[in-house]
Amino acid sequence: MKTFSKRMAHLGTENAFSVISKAKKFEHEVLEPQGKKLIYLQIGEPAFDTPDNIKQAGIRAIQNNETHYTASPGIPALREAVAQVASRQACVEYQAADVVVMPAAKSVIFHMINALIDPGDEVIVPNPGFPIYESVINYLGGTPVPLPLLEEKDFNFSLEELKSLITPKTKMIIINSPQNPTGGVLTRETLEGMAQLAKEHDLWVLSDEIYDKILYEGEHVSITSFEGMPERTVILNGVSKAYAMTGWRLGWAVTKNAEMASYLEQLIINDTSCTAAMIQHAGLEALTGPQDAVTTMKNEYQTRRDLLVSLVNEVPGFSCRSPKGAFYLFVNVKPILAKLGVNSSEFADMVMRGAGVLLLPGTAFGAHGEGYIRFSYVASEENIREGLRLIKDYVSSIYSD
Ligand SMILES: Cc1ncc(COP(=O)(O)O)c(C=O)c1O
Repeated sequence: MKTFSKRMAHLGTENAFSVISKAKKFEHEVLEPQGKKLIYLQIGEPAFDTPDNIKQAGIRAIQNNETHYTASPGIPALREAVAQVASRQACVEYQAADVVVMPAAKSVIFHMINALIDPGDEVIVPNPGFPIYESVINYLGGTPVPLPLLEEKDFNFSLEELKSLITPKTKMIIINSPQNPTGGVLTRETLEGMAQLAKEHDLWVLSDEIYDKILYEGEHVSITSFEGMPERTVILNGVSKAYAMTGWRLGWAVTKNAEMASYLEQLIINDTSCTAAMIQHAGLEALTGPQDAVTTMKNEYQTRRDLLVSLVNEVPGFSCRSPKGAFYLFVNVKPILAKLGVNSSEFADMVMRGAGVLLLPGTAFGAHGEGYIRFSYVASEENIREGLRLIKDYVSSIYSD
């Protein structure tokens, strides 16, 4: 057989998906014979069902034969609705032409990096951060340059630190706020300083705002609210998290840079031609219909966050801050790792086998995640309580502080 492309050796993965097959095997072979089940606290997938008005819009669209190809960058009504929503936080009015709809928010990462990065180009990425950024940069021959997000800085960073990472090869910075996996939120001052640096050094910005509606304090600030940024920024957003629509696969890019919008459209033409028509109609209902379900789900996440934070801090050797956004808890387990002489990946595996709870090691999000494990609190309150009871019992049996 001829060999695979060299690029494939550089493509990474997203652990939240790849651990599932290992976990399912363990559940099936070890836990089920004992009448037990694994508790899944690892994935960022809302356990709520998609609100009914959105489901009905999808069904109506099928019945109305919205089952054909659409224009590649999306149906005009959805592009217009996205532009209006994005304009609320930006210093400019976005138009429908500034929006490229895609069959996942995740696709924006792939296509924007594809549009910009040549081998040798550097991209500054949050670390810990969503693993797909680094994976795609490496795949395309670029160099990811990690920007450490540290617990002691409330998962922000200093502008001096960011500045020290910029070189003549830097082409792009990726930001994500509210953030996966830390739940951290970048302050207005940090974003303003970043915007300044991006303009001074002529850098592109990918602003991943997929968690913008899951914010527990204050108002979401987009880097596009600063003068001169909409032209060099692509906003990534979509319906998955805020509207509990992960399985529908719908996202979009928003940019005031017409050349970038046209390249993204061309990439979509080469890739999927367009996003499924009926899904776009459901997405339109999500954005333009009643928003109370979004608030209800967010309030529920906040209750679960408070419960999880208090239960986690009762486990010996575990500590965490209360995150300001998203639905993740990045828990410091350094004392346990030091005492047991294991790393966070080994520890996550021990928790799966010993407590029957699936979590992700911090290193699934980059090297600066060592010493941490990530919980997701989209699970039901019952699962959170039971999972934490099992973890506390297990950890108490192997560690005491
Ligand atoms: C930070 C971040 N960006 C993008 C995505 C992708 O979102 P979608 O599932 O809508 O493609 C995720 C999903 O987990 C995420 O956590």
